[in-house]
Amino acid sequence: MCGIIGVTGGSEVVDILLDGLARLEYRGYDSAGVAMQVDGKLWRARAATGTRSLDDLRKVVESAPAAPIGGIGHTRWATHGHPTERNAHPHLDCTGGVAVVHNGIVENCRELTAALERSGHVMTSDTDTEVIAHLVEEELAGGAGLAAAVRSALGRLRGSFALGVVSAAEPGTIVAARRVSPLVVAIADGPGGEALLASDIPAILGRTRTFWTLDDDQVVVLQPGALSVTDLHGAPVEPAVLHVDWDLEAAEKGGHDDFMSKEMGEQPRAVQDTLRGRALPDGTLSLDELRIDAAALRQVDKVFIVACGSSFHAGLVAKYAIERWLRLPAEIDIASEFRYRDPVLDRRTLVVGVSQSGETVDTLQAMRHAAAEGARVLVISNVVDSSMARDADGVLYTRAGPEIGVAATKTHLAQIAALEILALYLSQVHGSLPAAEIAAVLQSLQAVPGLVAETLQRDDQVAAVAARFTEVRDFFFLGRHVGSPVAMEGALKLKEIAYVRAEAYPAGELKHGPIALIEPGTVVVAVATRNRLWEKMLSNVAEVRSRGATVVLVANDGDEDTAAMADHVLWVPPVPELLSPLVDVVPLQQFAYHLARAHGFDVDRPRNLAKTVTVE
Ligand code: M6R
Repeated sequence: MCGIIGVTGGSEVVDILLDGLARLEYRGYDSAGVAMQVDGKLWRARAATGTRSLDDLRKVVESAPAAPIGGIGHTRWATHGHPTERNAHPHLDCTGGVAVVHNGIVENCRELTAALERSGHVMTSDTDTEVIAHLVEEELAGGAGLAAAVRSALGRLRGSFALGVVSAAEPGTIVAARRVSPLVVAIADGPGGEALLASDIPAILGRTRTFWTLDDDQVVVLQPGALSVTDLHGAPVEPAVLHVDWDLEAAEKGGHDDFMSKEMGEQPRAVQDTLRGRALPDGTLSLDELRIDAAALRQVDKVFIVACGSSFHAGLVAKYAIERWLRLPAEIDIASEFRYRDPVLDRRTLVVGVSQSGETVDTLQAMRHAAAEGARVLVISNVVDSSMARDADGVLYTRAGPEIGVAATKTHLAQIAALEILALYLSQVHGSLPAAEIAAVLQSLQAVPGLVAETLQRDDQVAAVAARFTEVRDFFFLGRHVGSPVAMEGALKLKEIAYVRAEAYPAGELKHGPIALIEPGTVVVAVATRNRLWEKMLSNVAEVRSRGATVVLVANDGDEDTAAMADHVLWVPPVPELLSPLVDVVPLQQFAYHLARAHGFDVDRPRNLAKTVTVE
């Protein structure tokens, strides 16, 4: 996710922009830029040197013309186009008189670009954002003022946005708007009376503690000392006022105690953004970005997934989806084992690497081995231009935004969503699933972000259950079918942040050995939502209960038959079977989180672990 800052008025424009961007640094970024209003013109500077971008930008800005009266700035986390200077924000129109910074995704970017190019506009970046600058340019050329031009341009956009726009023609004015992506505005305390704009409160927290938060499809005009908010039709609206008494560190965490809880809370967005523009309203899928064309994908006769940790668990879910929908064999391997066992691969094998970072050396080497053996290689990565993304024949990005907590949460859900999109897309290309069925799955997928949000709201109930187990040192996690990778992920979370032993098994495997360990008081956490093996799952639960285990079940709302088998229930809304991991894993993340917190552990930086593992 990117960061936005804007200011108009006062004498500290450069400092406010650069300090604001520095305060957004904690979110992660790969490039940065500013556009300032000076002498009736726009002056733009950008740098794309990864985490050095802000320092490099600061050096360029030292040579800026004196006394800008306002400006906008941006830190970019690439989603469309490589993390290069050409793609860094702000983006300009053809005249250089309009500059735009944007967070979010313009879903209809391709069709807008085509229409703009037909009218003679020249695109100078690979981003979706640039179309906004050209749309505003067209409206201004038609005689509109900046605010009206932005409102009209927004009417042509599908997708999500928080944006700030400046025009050389209206010095001292910034127009900003939001849909889905957050945005706040404020008037600075003190004599400057600057009007301020930011995607995140920390960027401007030092200047005031009172903010106006915008709702979807609201547009705000910022002028020195003044803010006015309208809806998309220009009718005035009264914005919500937020008074913040957090310190900066708490503000970076969005008022949460830690990044892990913030990032769990961002899961609905992560899934929604990953689906955006790919799952189309007409019930089909569009993955033009994939870099492997449909003809090549039609040749595929086997899919192989390679990944580590939580990414491996996401891959396990995908195996079920690929085999069910695509009707092709899908194998999955822990990446560190894959290349050493001499897997059988050829040009018709599609090897899918799954990696949040795109840098995990085990997965990277597995993918390189697959490529050397002649397979087509595709990666699901959260980091644009990661080593895996550069190496692979194809790439499908998750759009979870930077994840700071070491424990994968929102990226895990985004990976499952991306893999399911990929499985459906392959099914569409192969014609293995009727169009109506694809449309029905997509419709169910679109409902998932809301269901994840609903599940997250039950955090107190999960915390109360977790509070019963703070002294327990051993857990069993059980699941069947897609509940099995959910159980594995629940156990991994518990191990890595709460430092307790947690063994996960497909429940049917229990009787082949592990059941010998079940004795009175053993705690068994089982995923018992209504998938096709639910009855068999309950039989397995009965087996451990009869041996005295204390049973915690993840169960679907209102399922009293399941609840009757449990000592404690973690309730989740029902979701179609193959999509259920997206929801069922959430209370298990929360369970681990609360146990770790109860012990006073640092959930964001668990011991012995690194966010990106670059050694074998
Ligand atoms: O960046 P990657 O997805 O390739 O990382 C893989 C694992 O190291 C990662 O998922 C790890 O297991 C997480 N800490 C789990 O929370």
